[in-house]
Amino acid sequence: MEESKKTLYSAVQPTNSLTIGNYIGAIKNWVSLQNDYNCFYAIANMHAITVRQNPAELRKNTLSLLALYIACGVDPEKCTLYIQSHVPAHAELCWVLNTFTYVGEMERMTQFKDKSAKHADNINMGLMDYPVLMAADILLYGADVVPVGLDQRQHLEIARDIAQRFNNVYSPTFTVPEGVYMKHGAKINDLLDSTKKMSKSAENVNGSIFLSDDRDTVLRKFKRAVTDSGSEIKYDPDNKAGVSNLLTIYSVFAGKTIPEAEKQFAGVGYGEFKLAVGETVADKLAPLQAEQARLLADKAYLDGVLKSGAEKASYAARKTLSKVYKKIGFYQI
Ligand code: TYM
Repeated sequence: MEESKKTLYSAVQPTNSLTIGNYIGAIKNWVSLQNDYNCFYAIANMHAITVRQNPAELRKNTLSLLALYIACGVDPEKCTLYIQSHVPAHAELCWVLNTFTYVGEMERMTQFKDKSAKHADNINMGLMDYPVLMAADILLYGADVVPVGLDQRQHLEIARDIAQRFNNVYSPTFTVPEGVYMKHGAKINDLLDSTKKMSKSAENVNGSIFLSDDRDTVLRKFKRAVTDSGSEIKYDPDNKAGVSNLLTIYSVFAGKTIPEAEKQFAGVGYGEFKLAVGETVADKLAPLQAEQARLLADKAYLDGVLKSGAEKASYAARKTLSKVYKKIGFYQI
């Protein structure tokens, strides 16, 4: 780990198949930032169980997600890749931070309200405590920056508040993290409803492109994507939300800027445009899926990555936790 570099932290929950929203809003950024920061990338399985999971699937999704990180270009030689539950300090710091967090502010969290409505039969304490565990994740590693999608902004703000609160009561202990959001792509919307974010758990799977979708499925979903009135292919999120969303997706997958994409599609009809977006995405997903499958066949390699990741992460996390325990007055031997 290079001392001169700043620290970066992020994580994804190993639930369902990831969407291109997760890729564009988070993982793609991780790859471009991995040379400039000391990066910790976790698989947030402790967050995942706040919604009931099938154990066999959770286990399978965990390894699949690690393989996906690596297939997307996250380099385990440069970054620390690990499973959240392998580092007990996350749960331990979460407990301490709970005593610096108010019930009222957790009840006001948008995601808590949304998930409570969606899982009305299981509004468990973990669901409410979710942002505090996320704060513990970030603060344990002294993260300077946290690249996430816009849906995580509120959680990041609360992590900053908790850090500052603790620092004010004791003395500067935690680095106050900054969120990093993509200029375009921090919120990729559902293909069938441009007012909603694309989600792993959307009710209608046709609005989400999963990273595991095959070519025909990708083309079919883009073909059905909503566009807007008019016929111009122009980036204008307020008036042309559907087309703007597609332009954002295209620009990321084609490696072009939005103005370049607009120029390319000037005078082109919506049908042809949607086909081009679908083909570009499908062309990128195929090699990624093949590499993920190749990695998943080498379980010994993946386990090795996780073992070394857990060791590196535990070392860094323990250092912070023991500082915290000392400050709050926990007797240490
Ligand atoms: P999760 O698993 O829901 O999503 C993973 C990442 O994908 C981003 N994202 C999107 N970005 C753009 N458009 C979308 N439609 C879209 N949907 C999801 C999310 O913002 C996120 O960056 N709580 C986190 C995981 C987590 C975490 C952390 C993140 C746990 N601890 C500490 C950062 C730091 C989550 O559930 O992400």
